[in-house]
Amino acid sequence: MALEIKAPRGTNDVLPADSYKWQIVEDAARRVSDRFGYREIRFPTFESTELFERGVGDTTDVVQKEMYTFKDKGDRSITLRPEGTASAVRVCLEHGLFGGLMPLKAYYVISAFRYEKPQAGRFREFHQFGAELYGTSSPQADREVIELAASFLKELGLGEISLNINSIGCPECRKNYHAALKEYFASHAEDLCETCKGRLDRNPMRILDCKSPVCKGIAADAPLILDYLCDDCNAHFETLKASLTDAGISFNVDPHIVRGLDYYTRTVFEFTDPASGLALAGGGRYDGLVSELDPKMKVCGLGFAAGLERLVGVMEDRGLFPELPRKGAYIAAMGQKAVPAANKLATALRALGCRAETDLMERSLKAQMKYADKTNARFVVVIGDNEVESGKITVKDMAGGDPIETTLAEAAAIMADRM
Ligand code: HAM
Repeated sequence: MALEIKAPRGTNDVLPADSYKWQIVEDAARRVSDRFGYREIRFPTFESTELFERGVGDTTDVVQKEMYTFKDKGDRSITLRPEGTASAVRVCLEHGLFGGLMPLKAYYVISAFRYEKPQAGRFREFHQFGAELYGTSSPQADREVIELAASFLKELGLGEISLNINSIGCPECRKNYHAALKEYFASHAEDLCETCKGRLDRNPMRILDCKSPVCKGIAADAPLILDYLCDDCNAHFETLKASLTDAGISFNVDPHIVRGLDYYTRTVFEFTDPASGLALAGGGRYDGLVSELDPKMKVCGLGFAAGLERLVGVMEDRGLFPELPRKGAYIAAMGQKAVPAANKLATALRALGCRAETDLMERSLKAQMKYADKTNARFVVVIGDNEVESGKITVKDMAGGDPIETTLAEAAAIMADRM
């Protein structure tokens, strides 16, 4: 009977034929992070639910509707991480990293979980490359984080991605803004969705980010935070814009971006694919998050995360993944006597760091050659009784080069030299 268990809705399998695409994206993330001096941080897939309730914010869609939360066998409330920022701050607090060298820079490549309605580019398990920077309020830090994200996209060949930025101010400028928002939304209160009715008093800015079409329509004409920024936040935003321009990074100011997570202050930004309209990366500054999680600590922070499924999808659509070049060697054996010699040659090649395969299916020579071709082997060697006796072999170059006459003893070094 065929297996009837399928992958859970909203998850993806990456098959062996496609995993190189993920490796290209992840390698670029690591390379570009290193160029900016960010080092990798790793943290658990699950955390105490409270971390996200307090960090991401209990009036956000992520916390109110999308978290995978359960009780473990010890009756603790556990949540599969819906993102990495709150966890990264938890790690730094727990290990005293905020008392060390500043600025502190870290990156991560993680899975994340959100119980969202699956659709194009939206999954329940997805992956992020994220980078976080702590310890500075300088707008140069905002420019650096945006430059890092832009360099990563450029490294992948994704030049034409729109960057939209906004400033959502600090708690000071938000006081007046919240009052204006409350007044505006109160006049439409009856039409708001149930969740947003509850947000009206507690956090009216969250209504701006609601996915319900009716709330979206109402939010379109709401007052804009940019009109309420205090002098300091305004100056910060102006310096950031000038610095981005200096760095040759083009951007649009989109006063409607508020982001879906509660911790942001001042700069927020999104990189969007113009063709699909999907956000490929998003981030911003969060100067209040560290003290939200530990009131004794005051440390500025900022960062971004890019969605890897979306990146791989857009790169596939644009044909940005190269054909894999031929690689390694296939050592075919004809007859039982040749098997030890073929194995020995393959072992010698692997010891030199090369890919080498031999027949494990006891197939005919013709079938072995077919396998070598399909697995994209660069070199093929056929070993039969004659080769074992004389020690002489011919190396066939599948990339079109001339055949090489050599010996069983020298073949590994000769092939390795050309790979
Ligand atoms: P976010 O905007 O929620 O920000 O997610 C960042 C990126 O993850 C999105 O732009 C998108 O590409 C991808 N993403 C989010 N949800 C899904 C999903 N359900 N399916 C597929 N891809 C998805 C954050 O997570 C913040 N922690 C970013 C940050 C870091 N801010 C400061 N530091």
